[in-house]
Amino acid sequence: MLEHIIHHSLEVARVALFLSLELNKKGQRIDIALVEAASLLHDFAKTECLKTKEDHAKMGCQLLKGMGYERVGEVVAQHIRLEKEGNPSAVSEEEVVNYADKRVMHDRIVPLEERFKDLIERYGKQPSGRKTLGQLNREIRRVENKIFMILQIDPNALASGLVKEMPQF
Ligand SMILES: [Fe+2]
Repeated sequence: MLEHIIHHSLEVARVALFLSLELNKKGQRIDIALVEAASLLHDFAKTECLKTKEDHAKMGCQLLKGMGYERVGEVVAQHIRLEKEGNPSAVSEEEVVNYADKRVMHDRIVPLEERFKDLIERYGKQPSGRKTLGQLNREIRRVENKIFMILQIDPNALASGLVKEMPQF
């Protein structure tokens, strides 16, 4: 894996674990080990796919499932795009990892607006790319509202050091 992808993955894992542990304190039943593995591994096929132009979420999923890690593969598969609208009162491992990835730009925690602004600059040159990003933005807002309604904290509180207490791996 490229160095900057490793740093990104470590920060995504810290955010995802922080959210999962807090959500479980509020009665959610998130599998912490699954979130840890999937967030650390979510981009593990990306370095190779940058060369081959393949879909790194799909490729990561196939490789993990091939090694017998079925659920980790499923969560990795959905880190870019969630397959279905989730349960309105329960947060899934897929949603936590997907959301954490959207809050980490490179290795820095940012608000969704900032991450999407960067994504639009990089991938929104064509109308189809902008349309997809618009859908992703709406999807992830729903997830953000659900997570932070349960946690009763402001989404921006994430950026102010809460996550610093998470493992430094
Ligand atoms: Fe990715």
